[in-house]
Amino acid sequence: MWKRIFGKKNDTPDIDSDHSLSNLALDRASLPRHVAIVMDGNGRWAEGKGKSRSAGHEAGARTLKRIVRAASHIGIEVLTVYAFSTENWKRPHREVDFLLNLFDSFLEKEITEMHEQNVRMSFIGRRDRFSDRFLARMEDAEQRTAHNTGVHFNLAANYGSQDEIVRAVRKLATRAAEGELCPEEIDEALFSNALDTAGDPPVDLFIRTSGDLRLSNFLLWQSAYAELYFTETHWPDFTPEELKRAIEDFAGRSRRFGGLTTEE
Ligand code: IPE
Ligand code: IPE
Ligand code: MG
Repeated sequence: MWKRIFGKKNDTPDIDSDHSLSNLALDRASLPRHVAIVMDGNGRWAEGKGKSRSAGHEAGARTLKRIVRAASHIGIEVLTVYAFSTENWKRPHREVDFLLNLFDSFLEKEITEMHEQNVRMSFIGRRDRFSDRFLARMEDAEQRTAHNTGVHFNLAANYGSQDEIVRAVRKLATRAAEGELCPEEIDEALFSNALDTAGDPPVDLFIRTSGDLRLSNFLLWQSAYAELYFTETHWPDFTPEELKRAIEDFAGRSRRFGGLTTEE
């Protein structure tokens, strides 16, 4: 049943490469298609090291880079990460500003390499509170990578699942009011396609780092049947190796989707 299917995809030498992933012994069919991650614990990581919260966020950005690369090497179809929630605006102004600048410089620095790795990048969430400069960078990243065929990497920025659902309802209600759509035509598939994650499969594996056991308004609709994986590891310490462990754990779960077995 267990087959070795992953080898290194290219010979580019680099310290973050996936030596540890090359021995991930899983059948492709047991891989999650869509992995979602709540990248939590940057602040606690920093506190534990006597560093500033900003240093924690910077370390978190370095982890993200490694995890996108690992997801791409493993062959995950969609990776969606929670970078900034609709609720995170409540944080001190200085921290919010720092995070927005960090996203901007992350994109500036990483987009070329992600493009070379065949990553297709998208943003999910509201776009109404970002600077014009960041908006332009987001759109540029999406356009440049739009035709890539590797992992679909969704960065959730100013994202809240309830907000996303309300926006989707409004879109459909507007179409119905304009006579374009019959209310009876609205079903799960049509609704899914009105969400920011339109076109992506549902979340299979939902990971949250840093020990809190909650969803914090992330992908509520999309995670209806997701397998949950919580780890005490703070996000900056999360490694491709631990991603691999989460995937192996996922592969051992019995998913029944309300039925009795998935075997038949
Ligand atoms: C996650 O780390 C990053 C964001 C929410 C932007 P936190 O900043 O929430 O770190 P903790 O939870 O305070 O440790
Ligand atoms: C969730 O983390 C949001 C992100 C990781 C971006 P939070 O730190 O904001 O979540 P709560 O406040 O602990 O629920
Ligand atoms: Mg947190």
